[in-house]
Amino acid sequence: MERPNYLGNGKYDFYGSWCARIMLIKALLILASIVGVHSFDDDTYKIFIHNTKGNITREKLTTKKDVGLLDISFATVEAIAPDSFCALPNLKTLYINGNTKFPRVTKQLFQCNAKLTYATLVANDDSGQEVDRNAFTDLKELNTLRINGVELKRIGKDMFTGLNLEILNLVSCKIGEIDADAFSNLSNLKELDLGHNLIKSFKPGTYQNLPKLNELQLNKNEIGAINWDEWNTLPSLKTIDFGDNHLTVCDVSKIKEYFPNIHSCNLGDAFNKTRKAEIIEESKKLNISIKFIDYYGTYA
Ligand SMILES: *[C@@H]1O[C@H](CO)[C@@H](O)[C@H](O)[C@H]1NC(C)=O
Ligand SMILES: *[C@@H]1O[C@H](CO)[C@@H](O)[C@H](O)[C@H]1NC(C)=O
Ligand SMILES: *[C@@H]1O[C@H](CO)[C@@H](O)[C@H](O)[C@H]1NC(C)=O
Ligand SMILES: *[C@@H]1O[C@H](CO)[C@@H](O)[C@H](O)[C@H]1NC(C)=O
Repeated sequence: MERPNYLGNGKYDFYGSWCARIMLIKALLILASIVGVHSFDDDTYKIFIHNTKGNITREKLTTKKDVGLLDISFATVEAIAPDSFCALPNLKTLYINGNTKFPRVTKQLFQCNAKLTYATLVANDDSGQEVDRNAFTDLKELNTLRINGVELKRIGKDMFTGLNLEILNLVSCKIGEIDADAFSNLSNLKELDLGHNLIKSFKPGTYQNLPKLNELQLNKNEIGAINWDEWNTLPSLKTIDFGDNHLTVCDVSKIKEYFPNIHSCNLGDAFNKTRKAEIIEESKKLNISIKFIDYYGTYA
């Protein structure tokens, strides 16, 4: 089972245990119909569509069981009827993950899924997966949204209308532009992962309404300097990661000023030895744990 390579930074190790469980039922699924309904350790019925081919329709997903989780992974799906997920009105958790082929994801697809709380869409690199910008809007219960490997290029407020997310993960979406008000209505956001994109800088105000943001991942982007004019105070921020950028300019005293609750800050490995030594001295005075780690550098 191939893991998309941008999941390689160790943050998403749930894949390990997930795969182990899936293996048990995979053979059965290929032989039987496209849909297999299973209940594991909790009371939630789950549908797994794995390593299989076919078109998805409402009829194929219809079951008398009260299904809470749908996982379509490593499959080749030619077509999906827009009302397919209406067969699963109590769906809370959705994985569309690593499929060889999956049709365009549209808002219509979720028309009956007001209870969706967790949505993950991980596209294979270069699979050309398309997603409408408004596909997930107005899902009021949605807590976690993860879109990886889809070419979003620009992110803006239009993608998050009516959402109240706590976790937003947009890793590997070729994002080069973020509107200043993109996150302006996501005031409950706790974790934001913008790793593996093409971000060079932020528009002033981008971070102005994120009072609960705890963790910010900016690793593997194209940031050369922390320009504090682009930043706002993030009162809850504990962890920030700039690994694998080419950061060589950072006024460390500002880190504590802008992020008063910061515990851990990774600045990446682009500073020279002299500058690193200075930063370490400053960080001791400020009681911040500074790291200089490039994850990719160490694998190369
Ligand atoms: C699947 O859907 C596609 C596009 O709508 C269609 O061309 C194809 O015949 C369908 N395949 C099956 C097996 O129904
Ligand atoms: C912004 O957030 C508020 C409160 O969560 C909500 O009532 C409103 O509908 C949201 N607006 C948009 C455009 O998402
Ligand atoms: C190290 O980097 C600093 C700026 O970050 C620069 O001023 C200094 O000249 C560099 N030192 C060496 C030895 O390259
Ligand atoms: C430094 O930070 C640690 C936790 O990050 C805290 O326990 C400790 O009290 C702090 N020390 C000072 C001198 O502020």
